[in-house]
Amino acid sequence: MEFLLDTANLEDIKRYGEMIPLAGVTSNPSIVKNEGKIDFFQHMKKIREIIGKEKTLHVQVVATDYAGMIRDAETIIDQIDSDVYIKIPTNTQGLKVIKELKRRGFNVTATAIYTKFQAYLAMAAGVDYLAPYFNRMENLNIDPKEAIEQIAKEILRTNSSSKILAASFKNVAQVNTALEAGAHAATMGCDIIKQAFDMPSIEKAVVDFTADWESIYGEGHTIHEL
Ligand code: G3P
Repeated sequence: MEFLLDTANLEDIKRYGEMIPLAGVTSNPSIVKNEGKIDFFQHMKKIREIIGKEKTLHVQVVATDYAGMIRDAETIIDQIDSDVYIKIPTNTQGLKVIKELKRRGFNVTATAIYTKFQAYLAMAAGVDYLAPYFNRMENLNIDPKEAIEQIAKEILRTNSSSKILAASFKNVAQVNTALEAGAHAATMGCDIIKQAFDMPSIEKAVVDFTADWESIYGEGHTIHEL
């Protein structure tokens, strides 16, 4: 099970990267926009520095035509590093690009997946990750749970090496559902993690344990101070 952060915010990547078992970082042009007019390549290199080589970094192309997407992909690899997963929207032009990038041995993440058919084509083209947009599918009355279950089934049946990297989450329940339906990975904004641990009951449990301990051993005497 892989947990990724869907953000380009350096502070959040540092903070939440220390907290969760981080598998990688994903971004797209809308996420980059949240950081203002940054020096794009420098910023992506800083993210790589923070997360290290072992974690996956997924960076999306911006061009929308075949030649432009190929050039964007080449530039990302030249300017950041050759381990980057190139995110390509799974549309008609994108599928052509995916085939070519996989032929050249690039790491590829097929993104903007709303339907099983998109996923099956990207899987057959040999992508490394498939990114179904959970919340956006729900908004369109497309059942993301059923789609992820079926995609996971097809991955097994065809012995595909593609992994499902579920994305577009608005709450923790959606993340749980995606993982339980068979997603190998989930990428989420830091607000989702914050939301999950903002439950007063979790903090209350810790406060109660401390109070019970201190009622016997006195305030400020933890186990290592016994
Ligand atoms: O990784 C894809 C994701 O960023 C889309 O999420 O919240 O814009 O639907 P959202």
